Amino acid sequence: MSSFEPVLMANMALPDSHTLRVYESTGGYQALRRAIKELTPVQVIDAVKASNLRGRGGAGFPTGLKWTFLPKDHPGPIYMCINADESEPGTFNNRYLMELDPHQVIEGIILSSYATRATTAYIYLRYEYPLSWKRLQAALDECYAAGLLGKNILGSEFSLDVYLHKGAAAYICGEETGLIESLEGKRAWPRIKPPFPAIEGLFRKPTVVNNIETVACVTQIMARGVEWFKSIGVPSDPNNPRDPGSYGPKLYCLSGHVNNPGCYEAPLGITCRQLIDEYGGGVWKGRKGKAAIPGGISMGLFTEPEFDTPLDFAGPGKVGCLGLGTAAVVVLDETVSMVDFLHNSCRFFQHESCGQCTPCREGTAWALAMLNRIRAGKGRLRDLDLLLEIGDTIGIIPGTTICGLADGAAWPIKNAIRKFRGEFEDYIKRTNPHGYAVTEPVLALPVLAGAH
Ligand SMILES: Cc1cc2nc3c(=O)[nH]c(=O)nc-3n(C[C@H](O)[C@H](O)[C@H](O)COP(=O)(O)O)c2cc1C
Ligand code: SF4
Repeated sequence: MSSFEPVLMANMALPDSHTLRVYESTGGYQALRRAIKELTPVQVIDAVKASNLRGRGGAGFPTGLKWTFLPKDHPGPIYMCINADESEPGTFNNRYLMELDPHQVIEGIILSSYATRATTAYIYLRYEYPLSWKRLQAALDECYAAGLLGKNILGSEFSLDVYLHKGAAAYICGEETGLIESLEGKRAWPRIKPPFPAIEGLFRKPTVVNNIETVACVTQIMARGVEWFKSIGVPSDPNNPRDPGSYGPKLYCLSGHVNNPGCYEAPLGITCRQLIDEYGGGVWKGRKGKAAIPGGISMGLFTEPEFDTPLDFAGPGKVGCLGLGTAAVVVLDETVSMVDFLHNSCRFFQHESCGQCTPCREGTAWALAMLNRIRAGKGRLRDLDLLLEIGDTIGIIPGTTICGLADGAAWPIKNAIRKFRGEFEDYIKRTNPHGYAVTEPVLALPVLAGAH
């Protein structure tokens, strides 16, 4: 780890790191100047493709490949939507970038727009981020004044306008088609795909949606080169032709029961234990770790022995989690009740489900109703199998819902019960000693009313 040199966070400690003056004094906008002067848009796409950069917003889709899905020679506008909604619990790396180095993000937006021939970009910003709003708007104003945005950027043929848009304060606004609907002024109801945004997105025009950290990586790839980027992280698996590897630096968010919570830059592939011990100063209060959310709550749970899992795009899947997600690690110490953890998780997803798809709307509500009942001392052992049935059936795999929220809601249920079943059984037996083995139906909702 000692040889790793942070890049995405390198300038964040400088006084006034958010200003154009400081950004340019550290070499900022040189990559853009070079690209616009010396490279065609296709060459920028080729570089990003060659870097194997994978989207940092949660799904890990290869960025350059996504850009190639845009129609060639499209006569109308192409839009760039920058996803700064950042609502996955435990995730705050986009916020660091926007507050402390907004120009690194904006340079990436301009480069990405140049590559994809987008002439308008929107930054869809989480409603609850007022300082990010202020810093981004000030940085955009500086760019317009310096000829880095607007008509004929740096004297070239390329023109771009970037608008900041305040989000509608809901988790679902971060789902890319929910974001597009919200940007169009509607309720953030995700769209059925296909068509994917690259073909029919914002205002029904070809659209790219990329995360804030993804475009910051584009800046660094164009500044430092593809080889530099590929020298960091985990190479692709030679036995799996579909694995593009996990290259580059990553901003990990670390929170929960650690001594030093924060946002840390590390190479993709460090283990969860390294992150907790070497960056976070270990589990707090001298306690032991019990579990950790590996990449936002929708990814599931690591048990303590699974802390040795690498936090790359493939790692969490190998121990039964959904994936790396946003790389937001939340540590739970040995005193945490997994029943309480799961109740909290179910509360979140039930509240955030947009309600369009029956499995998601009903499944998240029933899971919460059952957790409420278990916590009210009316649980039955067979509730655990019912919860697992919900977890195994509401997600998009095998294609039952419009977006990934239902899948995200399912993983904490599946992991918590499968990995900590004994604790759930003990809780039910302890809190409902006479009724835990009841098999006949138990009304959930009347109990729910008194269970808060
Ligand atoms: C329920 C839900 C919420 C999401 N929230 C975010 C978010 O807040 N920020 C984000 O970048 N991606 C979020 N995503 C992923 C986006 O749909 C999309 O994959 C991403 O913005 C693409 O950018 P990337 O390729 O640069 O990662 C969410 C997905 C789902 C299903
Ligand atoms: S899966 Fe859930 S959040 Fe996503 S569209 Fe369907 S109901 Fe809405």
